[in-house]
Amino acid sequence: MSELNTKLVIGNWKMHGCLARNAVLLNTLAHGTQQWSEALRIAVCVPFPYLAQTQELLHNSRIAWGVQDVSAHTEGAYTGEVSAAMAAEFGATFALVGHSERRAYHQENDPAVAAKTHRALEVGLTPVVCVGETRAERDAGRAEQTVSQQLQVVLDTLSVEQAMRLVIAYEPVWAIGTGRNAQAHEVRAMHAVLHRLLTAADDRLAHVPVLYGGSVKPDNARELFAEPGVEGGLIGGASLKAEDFLDICAAAD
Ligand code: PGA
Repeated sequence: MSELNTKLVIGNWKMHGCLARNAVLLNTLAHGTQQWSEALRIAVCVPFPYLAQTQELLHNSRIAWGVQDVSAHTEGAYTGEVSAAMAAEFGATFALVGHSERRAYHQENDPAVAAKTHRALEVGLTPVVCVGETRAERDAGRAEQTVSQQLQVVLDTLSVEQAMRLVIAYEPVWAIGTGRNAQAHEVRAMHAVLHRLLTAADDRLAHVPVLYGGSVKPDNARELFAEPGVEGGLIGGASLKAEDFLDICAAAD
């Protein structure tokens, strides 16, 4: 568990945006965070076509940017894929990997998520490895097992030095986009499981940040971020509204 009191808040725009709306959002965020302490780390993960625009509008700001996925391959005949190196060329520093929507709609399994994690690390991106159980898995009492396995498969492929560069995001699938965030005690318990798993692999992984995601809003962010072992948040819907995203970031500051 991180001893430093620094939090990380990442926006996940998903498949939302257009040039005009992005410009307003990005400029408002850049301006709204200007005076904030450097201790709080903020990033937005945008759709690929908007990387250039994001780079242009945020390069002088304290907000980092990233992508929502990368190819499991380095380069080649993979029509429609985008490589981690391409994202890095546009100044991206984060890459979400294994988001539950990728797992559910694009059949991404744990080995694929591990491969994507490697592709991100190879080009200097910080992989944000997303893990989380479905409602059915939680109801069956298998939440911890599911989430632990998702992380363990990735960890098993990495050296300690590589694993030290990860960010983990715990996102219960049933809390994503539903307006029903996990309860503070559920978040605390799962973050403890994830931190234990990390430190069981190596003590040096105590500092790997574990974020919570799933219906984080301005009115619940403070409570969720105050839980021990919660080092910040991955924010979907609320990251599309500048005011809400800024409020959530303020709750982490
Ligand atoms: P949400 O999405 O904040 O809209 O629930 C979170 C995510 O999917 O990362």
